[in-house]
Amino acid sequence: MIDMKGKVAVVLGVANKRSIAYAIAEKLAAAGATLVLCYQTERLKRESEDLIAELGQTGKARAIQMDVTKDAEIEAAFKEIGEAFPAIHTLVHSVAFAPGDAMKNDFLLTKREDFAVAMDISVYSLIAVARAAAPLMTEGGSILTLTHYGSTKTFPNYNVMGLAKAALEAAVRYLAVSLGPKKIRVNAISAGAIKTLAARGIGDLQTMLDRTTERAALQRNVEQPEVGGVALFLASDLASGITGEVTFVDCGFNITGI
Ligand SMILES: NC(=O)c1ccc[n+]([C@@H]2O[C@H](COP(=O)([O-])OP(=O)(O)OC[C@H]3O[C@@H](n4cnc5c(N)ncnc54)[C@H](O)[C@@H]3O)[C@@H](O)[C@H]2O)c1
Repeated sequence: MIDMKGKVAVVLGVANKRSIAYAIAEKLAAAGATLVLCYQTERLKRESEDLIAELGQTGKARAIQMDVTKDAEIEAAFKEIGEAFPAIHTLVHSVAFAPGDAMKNDFLLTKREDFAVAMDISVYSLIAVARAAAPLMTEGGSILTLTHYGSTKTFPNYNVMGLAKAALEAAVRYLAVSLGPKKIRVNAISAGAIKTLAARGIGDLQTMLDRTTERAALQRNVEQPEVGGVALFLASDLASGITGEVTFVDCGFNITGI
């Protein structure tokens, strides 16, 4: 049994109960961690506060607005977190975005501005929030992000997000080296396809889900709680020797050839 009592986990990327971040927050909360849920816009405030309550979080747990494209919001959010807690232990970055056109048109047509948006929100944001969180991880810590096998192999319509995930995985390795001396570990979970709000933006997601059931070793798609469980492990001291890695949670899809 993993015990996270006394630990504070900051989780970015809960849009609703289908979000991978929600499943991660659920596992962290069940293990006793105190949660800070960071939501993107004012519109998600009420829902985030309700989710905090549903997760049985009382006392200091809170929901804070943080649009990762805005340096001022990142700074303000971590200032508030620093005032509320003597230290934080886990940071979950479960955030990505690419404009719709870039994930349904021919990859060759990828626009400069869509490329920049995808890289800013899906990659640079990890660096920005890691930099803001690190000074609060005074007892060491674990930073996690979510990636996909589209970083390495092509998937229909994944397009610019594949490039973003490749860069994100490289950022994980560079951040792991940068933050290693502070005893902060940085890892990515490469999740199989799951029907969430973000995934529904990928043109023809159903084909991806169907092909997975045909090819994955376990002959099915992965589910959010399975990703949540691995995130809890990586956040915990059981994973104290793991950093800079990409851990697949994809029912054994990436290991098969045909
Ligand atoms: N669903 C999948 O199939 C799958 C597979 C592998 C990896 N992932 C990754 O998992 C992560 C979470 O996605 P999800 O599938 O749970 O979908 P989701 O839509 O539930 O979560 C995406 C989150 O990103 C947040 N976000 C987007 N722009 C933001 C911004 N500017 N500032 C702050 N937050 C912002 C959204 O508010 C949302 O909470 C993403 O990195 C995604 O690429 C998803």
